[in-house]
Amino acid sequence: MYHPEKSYNDLPLLPPKVELETKQVLKQAIVATRVLAELKGRADEIPNQSMLVNAVTLQEAKDSSEIENIVTTQDNLYQAFTANTNSTDAQTKEVLRYRQALWQGYNNLTKRPLSTNTFISIVRTIKENDAGIRKTTGTKITRNGTTIYTPPEGEKTIRNLLKNLEDFIHQTNDIDDLIRLAVMHYQFEAIHPFPDGNGRTGRVLNILYLVEKGLLDAPILYLSKYIIENKNDYYKKLRGVTEKHDWEAWILFMLKGVEETAAYTLQKINAINALMEETILFAKEKLPNRVYSKELIELLFEQPYCKVKFLVDKGIAKRQTAAEYLQELEKIGILKSQKVGVENLFLNVPLFQILKD
Ligand SMILES: Nc1ncnc2c1ncn2[C@@H]1O[C@H](COP(=O)(O)OP(=O)(O)OP(=O)(O)O)[C@@H](O)[C@H]1O
Ligand SMILES: [Mg+2]
Repeated sequence: MYHPEKSYNDLPLLPPKVELETKQVLKQAIVATRVLAELKGRADEIPNQSMLVNAVTLQEAKDSSEIENIVTTQDNLYQAFTANTNSTDAQTKEVLRYRQALWQGYNNLTKRPLSTNTFISIVRTIKENDAGIRKTTGTKITRNGTTIYTPPEGEKTIRNLLKNLEDFIHQTNDIDDLIRLAVMHYQFEAIHPFPDGNGRTGRVLNILYLVEKGLLDAPILYLSKYIIENKNDYYKKLRGVTEKHDWEAWILFMLKGVEETAAYTLQKINAINALMEETILFAKEKLPNRVYSKELIELLFEQPYCKVKFLVDKGIAKRQTAAEYLQELEKIGILKSQKVGVENLFLNVPLFQILKD
């Protein structure tokens, strides 16, 4: 029997033994699938994908870490991402590690499918430690001092549950892929395999899952934004599954999240892309001919801050010329320079604005 203070070693294996695909769930799954497909298609059309991926993953990292009260400002984050500085604060570093975990996980998908080892390497990158599956007892989820959930205990029990989850992820029976995502996320959080970082690992996992299933080509969905904005509901719906097997409310909640965030991300992509096209035209007209290139302007959209080294690395110009290019861009009002440590960074102000809103 389930009791919030007793470790839930009876967590049922997947798939759940209830009808998941109710009429309402299927309806919502269709809508979410459609918007997500639209996002995927739109992202594929964009010539320089790394531009979007950088922006979206930084944002996703920031929002996801905020759920754990790891708060950094947009500006700190982007500066730390760009500058060569060792004065980055701990919170910002943690956010950057989340982003790194997302990237590593994404790159590893080409080598091997999602597995317990993937989960472990994600949490290790996020926590920057050598954490493994929980061996000790005492991990519990509390809210306002009360225990609301105690996850399963014992390394063997946890590993068995994770193996079952792995199999479930890769099953190709008739459950819709987005419905499967919702079930996977609940189960991962309910297993709670690590002493800490389970929420963030689970949220990275969501995005990787979408890529593995081919629903996205790149890790671009701000799903954590929805979760943080609906945190109370998120917690309540998770409990609903444990306490009342209320899968329907949980799945609907997650499907709505995919729909809303896919629409939101789509909007951002369109805004960034429109700004880039506008900037290309403007720069072509205002910049000296020897300075302008499409490549240069596209580079300014890979992240909001730019610096001489980026131009050099891209082969756009040698050091001194590159510095001059950035100054020309500042002169016509596209960039704004800012000293960070010993470096000069150049902010793409309107891009920063879009990302910040
Ligand atoms: N009743 C519950 N049952 C199962 N999982 C839960 C429940 N309530 C919360 N959770 C999950 O536990 C996560 C928090 O666990 P943990 O502190 O290990 O992760 P974190 O990444 O450090 O934190 P956070 O998710 O707050 O950023 C939540 O994000 C949520 O996914
Ligand atoms: Mg925590």
